[in-house]
Amino acid sequence: MNKSPLAIAVLGSGKGSNCQSLIDAIAAGRLNARLVGVISDVENAYILTRARQNGIAAEFISAAPFKTKLEGEAERRYIATLKAWGADVIALAGFMRIIKPGLLAAFPNRILNIHPALLPAFPGVEAWKQALEYGAKIAGCTVHVVDAGTDTGPILVQRSVPILDEDTPETLHARIQVEEHLAYPEALQLIASGAAILKGRRFYFRGTATPK
Ligand code: GRF
Repeated sequence: MNKSPLAIAVLGSGKGSNCQSLIDAIAAGRLNARLVGVISDVENAYILTRARQNGIAAEFISAAPFKTKLEGEAERRYIATLKAWGADVIALAGFMRIIKPGLLAAFPNRILNIHPALLPAFPGVEAWKQALEYGAKIAGCTVHVVDAGTDTGPILVQRSVPILDEDTPETLHARIQVEEHLAYPEALQLIASGAAILKGRRFYFRGTATPK
């Protein structure tokens, strides 16, 4: 018997190309899930347009008065909406706010993020630019569980790209985004299929290694 598809809600502040990669992976049968809704803290974010174009519930919910975090009344409104949609998993996709304990507790180990660097290197903002300026030769992306730290939670999937001599921040970010659009559906399918098992801060995948 088929398990019912994983109910994913997406939070994003920007253009939503990762959200699009999830929509496309579901349509292609690579991700056994459904997108139950998209919330943005930016009223005119293109991620909301994409969701609406695909018949997915899309809501702007202001996170004011805070500028960089989601807390207080705004956090309560996010939680209520996500619960009303029946979300199993929350996928952060370019959501430019720090997730605080209220939302973490509402979805324990069920909030994922995609970060444009090979963590634990280069946490924080504009990670691709950090990697380029540091002089690293390999960059990439990481899908991880969100915990109380900044980009510190257990890692599900990583994909790498070379950093080329002629790279600018823009060309490097574009190369990383190609891999992001593969990594996020792959990570969510590992959750959807029940293959991903978290022991401590390590993920093991059923059918590969046995967790100790
Ligand atoms: C991605 O690079 C992601 O890694 C970072 O924010 C960006 C979002 O891009 N967290 P998009 O809005 O999904 O196109």
